[in-house]
Amino acid sequence: MSDQTDLQSTVEALVQKGKGILAADESSPTIAKRFKAIGVESTEENRRAYRQLLLATSGLGAFISGVILFEETLGQRADDGTPLPQLAARQGIVPGIKVDAGKIPLALAPGDEITQGLDGLAKRLAGYKPLGARFAKWRAVYNVSATLPSRLAIEANAEALARYAAICQEQGVVPIVEPEVLIDGNHTIERCAEVTEAVLHEVFHALHRHGVVLEYTLLKPSMVVPGKEQAQQARPAEVAARTIQILKRTVPASVPGIFFLSGGQTPAEATANLDAINRVGAQPWQLSFSYGRALQDPAMKAWKGQAGNARETQNALLKRARLNGAAREGKYVPALEDSAA
Ligand code: 13P
Repeated sequence: MSDQTDLQSTVEALVQKGKGILAADESSPTIAKRFKAIGVESTEENRRAYRQLLLATSGLGAFISGVILFEETLGQRADDGTPLPQLAARQGIVPGIKVDAGKIPLALAPGDEITQGLDGLAKRLAGYKPLGARFAKWRAVYNVSATLPSRLAIEANAEALARYAAICQEQGVVPIVEPEVLIDGNHTIERCAEVTEAVLHEVFHALHRHGVVLEYTLLKPSMVVPGKEQAQQARPAEVAARTIQILKRTVPASVPGIFFLSGGQTPAEATANLDAINRVGAQPWQLSFSYGRALQDPAMKAWKGQAGNARETQNALLKRARLNGAAREGKYVPALEDSAA
């Protein structure tokens, strides 16, 4: 019973008007790729320094309700010795933890992938809780083509997501369920819609089968968009209409919050699309953001690995957080993109 109260209060802390979630849980290979793009070596100290800067951004708590951390960050400390999760919690930002162990090829299913990390998960969660983690994230990915993802990939990933979510709830941790239909490729927006509908339908079927309580579950889906190599791109109003249509067909009203990933959209696109989604009208769920790149890219470019760029880094992060906070209410004004901070 006390676990249910914990789950409820975590959901309430995460799902708040005008706020979304910062995804800062890049795995070691992914953060190395992002750092390489700005000419910074991915050492443990550089990762700590960068993430400390993000979490110490003054005023971030006005627009960010939760932050997803990578396991390494959960155990790191700020220069003054404060554990990094506490740096977030101090601003009212709930710390969470990515618990999947990444994706591998799905055996005997060429082109499909499966996410691993279920073994020992309950024990790992029990270790993360005393470090401050109150929610978790597991990402499943689906490659799109005329034939992908296969039925097998849709079913196997749904099963893993549901098993993960059930284990989290049993441990008193709120699961964020993240099925990401990838933007890579030249598929049409119609094909993305078709795949997203099949994926979400199967995910909620599996969650039900595993007894996962939807009131204590958050969804982190991709938006319905064309592949990034598709010539026919879509305006925010079309992305919004198709995304809402698919969510209405597949996501029960008892899910309290849907936090989109940015998945390779530019920061401005991700904000404009979220804004359009929230302008469609009132929906059963709160519709917000849980962006990684779309929140961090401008900040990382401002940082360049230099402590002297701290102020510019934090201003860049705060600006994206503020604009997405507005978009989460359907109140984004594109002209604000031109303001310095
Ligand atoms: P992006 O917003 O960069 O897609 O990252 C979100 C995330 O958490 C991916 O797992």
